[in-house]
Amino acid sequence: MTAQILDSKQLAQQIRTELKQKIYDSQITPELAVIIVGNDPASEIYVRSKEKACQEVGIKVETYRLTQDISAEELKELIDLLNNDRNINGILVQLPLPKHINPQEILTRIKPEKDVDGFHPLNTGLIIQKQPAAFSPCTPKGILRLIHTVKQDLSGLNAVIIGRSQIVGLPVSHLLLNENCTVTIAHSKTKNLSEICKKADILIASVGKAEFITGEFIKPEAIVIDVGINRTSNGIKGDVKFAEAYEKAAYITPVPGGVGPMTIAMLLENTYEAFFKQNHS
Ligand code: GUN
Repeated sequence: MTAQILDSKQLAQQIRTELKQKIYDSQITPELAVIIVGNDPASEIYVRSKEKACQEVGIKVETYRLTQDISAEELKELIDLLNNDRNINGILVQLPLPKHINPQEILTRIKPEKDVDGFHPLNTGLIIQKQPAAFSPCTPKGILRLIHTVKQDLSGLNAVIIGRSQIVGLPVSHLLLNENCTVTIAHSKTKNLSEICKKADILIASVGKAEFITGEFIKPEAIVIDVGINRTSNGIKGDVKFAEAYEKAAYITPVPGGVGPMTIAMLLENTYEAFFKQNHS
């Protein structure tokens, strides 16, 4: 038996089409401000994809392209302006930021109700408390949505997350815990990683090491979500050795095309929700 591919492109497109209709029907124009600092080529590509997706569904997007040498103070001043601009519903600061800027300090400056990336500590806390008002970070929210297309009830499943980043690993662990999974977070200091992974009904790889997870890590019939995007001399590779995992898993995401489209779809959804949170509460 080989795995079924989890088609994130198709699901993301469906979500975008539905959202476009909802925005059109409600005769609103949500507005997103995107801030990108420096000229990291990967960040540029992500930001352009986000801009295009916003425009397609009827979300107005304003991008602020700032030079690498901008100070944290200047960046916070721009965030304050956007926080106080009633036309702006969502603010996204593309990561990573240059080394001289502490990302937590910047992300904490964004008003929680405009934090469509879900990185503000208040939103993190609301997720931990399982409060519906929270904005969930886009990649973790997209991963859950994707898993739910093939399995509704995750209660009691063993979920293993490899990687403890603020963007993916930690928030996805909270979302899975909220679904009553038994969650293990593995990281660079974890011992016996393959033994832990072998017990995973849901395996989420977010390590940033090309093809690090081989077939022997995979429990038969597992759901395998590969968040890795690693540029190698053989092209873009995930964290999972796809050909081997494909032979054992029940469901798997490919790379490229794995979860990226869902991240963008969830950003659009969060921005749409932000509009209503700000205008109807
Ligand atoms: N860099 C990598 N992923 C993300 C994301 O989801 N949001 C932002 N703002 N930056 C990122």
